[in-house]
Amino acid sequence: MNRGLQVRDLTLQAGGTQIIKGIGFDVPAGSITGLAGESGSGKTMTGLSICGLHPKGARRGGRIEFEGRDLIGLSEREMNACRGNDIAMIFQDPSASLHPMLRIEEQLTDHFRFHERTTRRAARERAMSVLESLRVPDPASALRKYPHQFSGGQLQRIAIASAMMCGPKILIADEPTTALDVTVQAGILRLLRELCDEVGLAILLVSHDLGVMSAVADTLIVMRHGAIVESGTRLDVITSPKEPYTRSLIDALPAAAAPPVHRRSAPQASTRIELK
Ligand SMILES: Nc1ncnc2c1ncn2[C@@H]1O[C@H](COP(=O)(O)OP(=O)(O)O)[C@@H](O)[C@H]1O
Ligand SMILES: [Mg+2]
Repeated sequence: MNRGLQVRDLTLQAGGTQIIKGIGFDVPAGSITGLAGESGSGKTMTGLSICGLHPKGARRGGRIEFEGRDLIGLSEREMNACRGNDIAMIFQDPSASLHPMLRIEEQLTDHFRFHERTTRRAARERAMSVLESLRVPDPASALRKYPHQFSGGQLQRIAIASAMMCGPKILIADEPTTALDVTVQAGILRLLRELCDEVGLAILLVSHDLGVMSAVADTLIVMRHGAIVESGTRLDVITSPKEPYTRSLIDALPAAAAPPVHRRSAPQASTRIELK
């Protein structure tokens, strides 16, 4: 069973600066937890700290609880085993997590084969089914292509596919739609929503854009200067923010992105991603 992730008193110190100042929140399974805040507030560092990918020389404190273990106490080797398998991350620029010179098939299957000790054929079948469930058109031909042959939106789908190969329990998505056109953005957000609803993934969605958050997040955490200033359900935070800082972020939204107050849509039966 996926019990998600619990962050407690997390700090990150680099040089003399405290980048993250003792924050705590939960990332429950089957839910999208939105981490919002203006640029430089510490959102990316929070995601990287959870994955153990914070800058070299920076020091973490506090606890990151996952399946009865504290990730902060893990050795590099143990964290490597966890990352990419139990906890996966995608970024604003999908090409950052994909190698430009390798075909999509290798990118999706190499780590999976190593980790699952399966045949090339079984790994390929898994890749096909993940791509299909993420609605990448013509998965067989997609596997033969290189990253530069895809549009930004398709490439983000492929990066998500790569993240989903080993059936992670936690997905950290750092500004996954920021570089994309608005229409393409909606498709990626819908996909994250489906992963959450259908396979019970625990998603931490990092975005400076409250418009994005108001479209998909279940709960919202607002960060400023490395600290959490406000958190609650999406509806509470967007419609009745307690902090003037949150209010200012909401007021900065374009009118067209005015927060919808609808409940999340029912899961769609068309997407099936099987967690092993
Ligand atoms: N490699 C690094 N080493 C030290 N400090 C960093 C590094 N990268 C970013 N920072 C600092 O950490 C703070 C938070 O940055 P970041 O998490 O990237 O913010 P956000 O994602 O919210 O825009 C900023 O003040 C930034 O200057
Ligand atoms: Mg960032």
